[in-house]
Amino acid sequence: MRFNINRKPLLFPFLLLKDSYSMGKILFVLVVICIFFVTFGSAQRIELTVNASKPGATINRNIFGQFAEHLGYGVYEGIWVGPNSKIPNTRGIRNDVVNALKAIKVPNVRYPGGCFADEYHWRKGIGAKRAVTLNPNWGGVIEPNTFGTHEFMDFLDQIGSEAFLSVNVGSGTPQEAAEWLEYLTADEKTDLGKERAINGHSAAYKIPYLGIGNESWDCGGNMSAEYYLSQLKIYSRFVRNYNPAQQQNDRMLRIAVGPGGGEPRFTEWTDTIMKAWQNHTWSWDMEGLSLHNYTVINWEKKHSSINFGETEYAQILKKTLEMESLIDKHAAIMDKYDPQKKIALVVDEWGAWYAPLPGTNSGFLIQQNSQRDAILAALNINIFARRADRVRMANIAQMINVLQAMILTDKEKMVLTPTYYVFKMYVPFQDATFVPVTFDAGTYTHGDITLPRVDAVAARDKNGKLWVEITNVDPNKALEIDLKTVGMTAKSAVGETLTAPKVDSINTFEKPGSVVPKAISAKAQNGKLTLNLEPKSVTVVAIEQ
Ligand code: AHR
Repeated sequence: MRFNINRKPLLFPFLLLKDSYSMGKILFVLVVICIFFVTFGSAQRIELTVNASKPGATINRNIFGQFAEHLGYGVYEGIWVGPNSKIPNTRGIRNDVVNALKAIKVPNVRYPGGCFADEYHWRKGIGAKRAVTLNPNWGGVIEPNTFGTHEFMDFLDQIGSEAFLSVNVGSGTPQEAAEWLEYLTADEKTDLGKERAINGHSAAYKIPYLGIGNESWDCGGNMSAEYYLSQLKIYSRFVRNYNPAQQQNDRMLRIAVGPGGGEPRFTEWTDTIMKAWQNHTWSWDMEGLSLHNYTVINWEKKHSSINFGETEYAQILKKTLEMESLIDKHAAIMDKYDPQKKIALVVDEWGAWYAPLPGTNSGFLIQQNSQRDAILAALNINIFARRADRVRMANIAQMINVLQAMILTDKEKMVLTPTYYVFKMYVPFQDATFVPVTFDAGTYTHGDITLPRVDAVAARDKNGKLWVEITNVDPNKALEIDLKTVGMTAKSAVGETLTAPKVDSINTFEKPGSVVPKAISAKAQNGKLTLNLEPKSVTVVAIEQ
């Protein structure tokens, strides 16, 4: 797609008018002209250079991780409908959701919480007879435990993903967590291994990621950093992975609870854990430190996820960009104790947290997902990608029906959100090599808020193909990108772009196709590749040489 609006812009309509004999045709031409100028008339031109000869760190596929907590309809109804449901399912897991998730190549799923994890007792979720308990964190509803360890591992298997298990540090014991891991990973020689086999899975499960507690400074037990550190040492030593295939390669990575903000209590938390790690003895260790950061402006009066305007669009995007300085603040502390970047920063809860949709259970955290969230997702992913050497894992909250979800369901209906499509468009960036991009971002101003107008990242995938993502933050103005490549000659660009008529455009069960990606392409002319990007859009293209 190439519109060169700078040359003879008025000739095009007159040429067409000369050949138009009916009023209808003239009117049609006028409408086309209007659409053309509304969309591209105010386009700004930005030069973007991709330095294909300067590769950087690998963008770990795990930054595209998901989070599924026993919360509202996140697991029950969202994933699990039970084998007797009329909704098509495989062993109780809904097929439509599985198929949608397969397409975004979910690298890992964090489970079972969240706050829920620190009250979860895994034994209640195995075997033929399940305990019926409560979910006091999230609406106080019944927790039937019909979705437990085996169902979660089956779900992962169906979508082709890996487990990131959070063990209960708050109300559990090291023994309980150790036994869960033994149950999952020991071969059949131990009693727990045999029990797993009796319950339907003789082979040891692979558990690549272990979260030791969740928000232990808050819902996970209100611990001080020192108290948590003492727990971390115990859990990291005794919660072992026995899977024979994970003893040399693919060793389980242990992720410690990290900060939940930038305040002094959180910088002190990072400092305490990292300082202790620097001096750790042989008997304990960790491989990752978590960071939680939601995009919320006022926790008491959260923004709405629907029916909002440009002011709320600009406010939320300004807020979300704080992720950058927050990561840098904690990464600087980590650098002090770990200059070799052995410890990954794991942003295992991120995303927009809005007010619950009117009429829904406020404990279920149900919100809609708009084009604003698509832009927000792209901006955050780019922040992670630019820090790929330290940020090696991230989990958006949450996968289905909760907060900034990929998928919304209502009984047999399912709809894919704008955020889902962003994750789909970024699939080529999974495990690709970061490639530097230079551009003058310009500014987008609304009222007293000024934001960078453009964002972009590039990466080379395993097959050598170069991919570029460009976000046009401005909700009103189109963007002309002059794309230059150093180290290769670009002939064309082919990909997809996601935009919508309004900042609050959403997909609904009735109209699931309002915000969906469409094809975009450009051919180089006179050695130049020009991409025309619509307002408030996320675009991913492959550069063909
Ligand atoms: O994602 C919802 C909740 O947010 C999680 O349970 C908790 O860890 C965080 O406070």
